Amino acid sequence: MKKNEIQHVNSHNEWDPLEEVIVGTLDGATIPEWHIQLESTMPKKFWNFYKKNGGRPFPEEQIRAGKRDLNDFIKILESEGVTARRPDPIDFSRPISTPDWTARGGLYAAMPRDVLLVIGNEIIEAPMAWRSRYFESFAYRSLIKEYFKKGAGWTAVPKPQMNDSLYNYNYTEPKEEEKRYSITEFEPVFDAADFIKCGRDIFVQKSNCTNQFGIDWLERHLGNEYTIHVLEVSDTHPMHIDATFMPLAPGKLLINKERLKKIPGMFKNWDIFEAPPSCLPDSHCLYMTSKWINMNVLMLDEKRVMVEKSEERIIKSFKNWGFKPILCNFRNFNTFGGSFHCVTVDIRRRGELKSYF
Ligand code: ALA
Repeated sequence: MKKNEIQHVNSHNEWDPLEEVIVGTLDGATIPEWHIQLESTMPKKFWNFYKKNGGRPFPEEQIRAGKRDLNDFIKILESEGVTARRPDPIDFSRPISTPDWTARGGLYAAMPRDVLLVIGNEIIEAPMAWRSRYFESFAYRSLIKEYFKKGAGWTAVPKPQMNDSLYNYNYTEPKEEEKRYSITEFEPVFDAADFIKCGRDIFVQKSNCTNQFGIDWLERHLGNEYTIHVLEVSDTHPMHIDATFMPLAPGKLLINKERLKKIPGMFKNWDIFEAPPSCLPDSHCLYMTSKWINMNVLMLDEKRVMVEKSEERIIKSFKNWGFKPILCNFRNFNTFGGSFHCVTVDIRRRGELKSYF
């Protein structure tokens, strides 16, 4: 490889021109079994739904509608010059077992951002903390093997044992400023979506799926070229940073003001944009997230941003802030727990490792 030659897998930040992404699928999507991990993260209004239906497929009509959104999204990506790759189809309704525990089924391969962390030329399979997600990375193995053969690095963080010592079964919902999680520090765990990259600086939140041990593991693995910053986030159900903190372009940061009360001093010269509230009606079925997924956007470059078509408030804000929103209907997909950022993982952006601070 010549110096400065862009490799097939190459992603250093959220905004370099996007050339290739993996887009998730709803094929085989299965309702996860009830567990303390769901109690600490999933909307209360669906707790009974999980308790009753764990291990069964999600309702067919909702899956069909979500798939229509996905197809539209892929067409738009392609018309914007981005290659979309897809995971292998997997039947997530099959039970999972290890010597320590069993789960009635898996979840899905809808959110590659949760599973794979791409840092530069390396694909890292995250040690996810939900038992139902234990084998989720396998849906991406055909692609990962192909990328490896094209020169990418490939790392799987040590597989967590996930016995009962990993979970805090005495967990109760924390108040606003309290820090309490449903996972312990038994072993390193993290979801890739709790991390977000700005070149040599990587930001992370501790959450109900990312512990300090996991952050320490990644910090040591990445070495001196990177600095990991742990954000102070005020979220009573933290799981994934990308509806809280979204770097959009050099010098431009989108935040959820309800959750990010302290912006690190290193952003003092950046424009800070506050996400307006979502336009989704309360009646819209969101099995897994809050309505803040309106800010779960995907940058195609420093200007073009993929935004949900009916989110008029944030669309107007993006225009005022000098961005070019590209609209796509995605409400039916939102039902399953994410938007354009969650449903993708960057494989290649045209750019180099830099420091932006
Ligand atoms: N867990 C994040 C939220 O619900 C995505 O807003």
